[in-house]
Amino acid sequence: MSLVKIERLATGVKGFDKLISGGIPRGFFVAVVGEPGTGKTIFGIHYAWQGVKENDKIIYVTTEESRESIIRQAKMFGMNLDEAVDSNKMIIIDALMKNTNDEWTLNETDIDELVKKIIDAKKKLGYGRARLVIDSMSTFWLDKPAMARIYSYNIKRVLYKWDFTALLTSQYAITTSSAFGWGVEHVADGIIRFGRRIVGGELKRYVLVEKMRQTPHDLRVHYITIEDKIGMKIEEATELRQEDVSMPEKLKKQLKNHEGI
Ligand SMILES: Nc1ncnc2c1ncn2[C@@H]1O[C@H](COP(=O)(O)OP(=O)(O)OP(=O)(O)O)[C@@H](O)[C@H]1O
Ligand SMILES: [Mg+2]
Repeated sequence: MSLVKIERLATGVKGFDKLISGGIPRGFFVAVVGEPGTGKTIFGIHYAWQGVKENDKIIYVTTEESRESIIRQAKMFGMNLDEAVDSNKMIIIDALMKNTNDEWTLNETDIDELVKKIIDAKKKLGYGRARLVIDSMSTFWLDKPAMARIYSYNIKRVLYKWDFTALLTSQYAITTSSAFGWGVEHVADGIIRFGRRIVGGELKRYVLVEKMRQTPHDLRVHYITIEDKIGMKIEEATELRQEDVSMPEKLKKQLKNHEGI
């Protein structure tokens, strides 16, 4: 048995925590990556809701969906995020409601403004263990993919002291060589990759823990399901091998060249 006792945060996704020795180590910045529609946002919602149940402070940044959309999605799985917001346990920062005077809206998708808002939100929520979800980081470097790595590094460096355990989502499009960013992964303490496959004419989603520092983690690809009223669940391990699902070497190289750092 390990002598090192690490505090781990449960993710709230049924069957997931046992893949990572009980949960995400406190203080970690974890990249949640994958193609569109694979479950990144829903994973983030479960993680936030678990925090509400454990009385953590929650900051949820949504850049591509509205605040209402996140609340509605959560409600489909029986999670009342709006109550958490009303009772000052959670702040949802939105990047879509431009030109409003809303306190928790980002007027620019600018990394400095993002960090400032997150710190303001943390001060407002008060001391104590906090969960941060940024969904998605890709928005901040859409027009400047070369900045992905340095932005990710800065976020971690600045927010490190604020007692966050963070999930940072990031997309990549497997069919194009345009870099949505290949940056979060470089600085992250963990990488959780979601993906999808057509198996026997049916869309199957899967998850793979590619990296989790200080953690003996499962190395297999597991199917997942997303069901109405229930949310995400981890199913049995698949026969897929890591090389079947990880990013092709050629694409990795293209992204790296594009990044230029
Ligand atoms: N109530 C529901 N019941 C069943 N499946 C649902 C429900 N709500 C969402 N889903 C499934 O979850 C998928 C969306 O997952 P999610 O939004 O987490 O993906 P994502 O990885 O964040 O995608 P993107 O990169 O586009 O943001 C939908 O395409 C749908 O298949
Ligand atoms: Mg999403």
